[in-house]
Amino acid sequence: MHVFGIVVWLGGLMFQSAVAAPIIQFEGELAKAAMRKVHKRFVAFVWMSAWTMLITGVLLMLLNPRFVWFRYQDRWSVLLASKQLIFVLMMFYAFGYARMLKYLETPSSNGGFNEKAELYRRRLDQFRKISIVLGIAALLLAAAMQVYG
Ligand code: HEM
Repeated sequence: MHVFGIVVWLGGLMFQSAVAAPIIQFEGELAKAAMRKVHKRFVAFVWMSAWTMLITGVLLMLLNPRFVWFRYQDRWSVLLASKQLIFVLMMFYAFGYARMLKYLETPSSNGGFNEKAELYRRRLDQFRKISIVLGIAALLLAAAMQVYG
C-alpha cells in the first residue's frame, strides 16, 4: 500500500505534466475546461495517496526495529527523516495546487484576460514539476534505505 500510494501520486502528476498538458495547451477553451476538471478530480486521488502513504509509513516505521524515536544515529534513520521531510514538502505543494485550482474555477478567473489566473496556470505547472522531482528524490531515498539501511 505504501508503494502503491506513490505510484498513483507520482504517476498521475507525470501523466498530467508529460502527456496531457503539452497537448491541451494548444487546444481550445473547451479542452482546457475539461482538463481543469481532470486536475480537480486528481486532487482527490492525491489526498487518498498521501493519507495511505502517511498511515502505512508510520506503521512501517513503528514496526521496524531500527526505528528509535528522535534518534538519527544511523544511515537508515537519516534517510527516513529526509524522506519524511520530502513528504511534508510534497503536501505543501499539493495544498497550494488545490487552492489555485479552486481559484481557477471561479467565474472571475475565466472572464477575459486575467493576470492572476495566468500566473496561477503557470504556477500549477511549476508545482506539478517540483512535486515530480521531490517524488523521484523520495523514491531514491527509499531505495537507499533498502540498500544502505
Ligand atoms: C514521498 C514520500 C515517500 C515515498 C516516495 C516513499 C517510498 C517508499 C518505498 C518505495 C519504500 C520501500 C518499500 C519496500 O521496498 O519495502 C518505502 C519504505 C518505507 N517508508 Fe516510505 N515513502 C515516502 C514517505 C514515507 C513517510 C512519510 C514515512 C513515515 C512516516 C515512510 C516510512 C517508510 C518506512 C518505515 C519504510 C520501510 C523501510 C525499510 O523497511 O527499511 N515513508 N517508502
